[in-house]
Amino acid sequence: MKRPRVSSQRGSQAKKVIDLHNKVIMRTTMVPYPLVGIEAQGALVKDVDENVYIDFSSAVAVANVGHNHPEVVKAVKAQADKLIHFAGNDYYNPLQAQLAQELTRITPGKFDKKVFFSNSGAESVECAFKLARWHAKKPVMISFLGAFHGRTFGALSLSACKGLHKKFFFPLVPSVVHIPYAYCYRCNFKLEYPDCGVWCASYIEEVVLHSHPREDIAGLIVEPIQGEAGYIVPPKEFLPKLEKICDENGLLFIIDEVQTGFGRTGKMFACEHYNTQADIICLSKALAAGLPMGATVAKSEIADWEEGTHSNTFGGNLLACAASLANIRVIKKEKLPGRAASLGEHTLSRLNEMKEQSGIVGDVRGKGLMIGVEFVKDEQTKEKAVKETEKITVEAFKKGLILLPVGVNCIRIAPPLNIPLEHLDKGLDILFDAIKAVERG
Ligand SMILES: Cc1ncc(COP(=O)(O)O)c(C=O)c1O
Repeated sequence: MKRPRVSSQRGSQAKKVIDLHNKVIMRTTMVPYPLVGIEAQGALVKDVDENVYIDFSSAVAVANVGHNHPEVVKAVKAQADKLIHFAGNDYYNPLQAQLAQELTRITPGKFDKKVFFSNSGAESVECAFKLARWHAKKPVMISFLGAFHGRTFGALSLSACKGLHKKFFFPLVPSVVHIPYAYCYRCNFKLEYPDCGVWCASYIEEVVLHSHPREDIAGLIVEPIQGEAGYIVPPKEFLPKLEKICDENGLLFIIDEVQTGFGRTGKMFACEHYNTQADIICLSKALAAGLPMGATVAKSEIADWEEGTHSNTFGGNLLACAASLANIRVIKKEKLPGRAASLGEHTLSRLNEMKEQSGIVGDVRGKGLMIGVEFVKDEQTKEKAVKETEKITVEAFKKGLILLPVGVNCIRIAPPLNIPLEHLDKGLDILFDAIKAVERG
């Protein structure tokens, strides 16, 4: 898989797999194009019919070190030969302790921390939510409109991304208050930054804490950059203001770094851009370079629940621990946060050029290699170009680029952080061609 062959798909194996899939697998969140991946290396993915694609999705922001990084593969194989699973919440094992120690070191905040291991982002959030209620002995959580924290009942209750996610699932976990996020391109308060003074953060003190009994509020959970809502980057004051409000009002400050973590945004963790430190931080996705793993890292003084309160079977799985330790070593060795930052600037400048030439690119925003492009039918009315967004992803796929839609009218640019510049530029060329093709109609 040396070079991406940029041609329309050939072969019929994909259809067979997709027919079987549709027969036996429940409907989930499938993308609007038929990709059957069977092999991948770095930023290149091969499908079942031998077509090769450039991956701008990192399989949903997971492959930060690239698909099948040789050092991760080596570590997983070596561990598989020794022991695959040994119930890390019931017995002890050295890898789990070593990884937990590493996570307490690399996450922001020079205080003692403790880690709970799970298997997904939603579970890392479930743990944070339960821990917040346990520690504070209070029920209410503040969260944001547009937030996505996962689909288990607790995580879903904290989310407010798409109505469909909650259809027929009410009643959810009660006592979650959702407030507007700092989405400046479509401000809920119809204000303009910076004149607004970041009112969306002040709103918590001015409105929420007056209209709710503050002695009942356990904490606040926030994504430092909203992911599933459309890769929305808040202004620089937003997170520090939230941290201050939490500090001053005795609320636990929970940061969900599931999608933003592990170098994606140009720092190891996105909250480092804003010099903020969480009481509890949620991790998953790129944590173990493709092995399923979640981790909730909390200040030791908060992680005070009784033995047996919370647990699971697979948390601290040995293959996932081995993968994660290798993954973190690679991120450090290859200086991937710095690389994400510089490639991100390059990508943003190319996308902004594209925006100048296009009538449907409404907004381009991002940090590092977490970049969102929002499509609109009209730059003045900002009417969302939903169909066009879908068509762009399909058109790009036909030309050899994997693009993952996000929100309803955005795409995410989230390639592996070590993508070669040549592949990044080739992918951007394909994206521009796809946008032009859809604009031409
Ligand atoms: C910020 C954030 N939190 C939590 C989750 C849930 O993760 P998972 O799909 O692994 O349950 C996601 C998934 O996209 C996410 O982006």
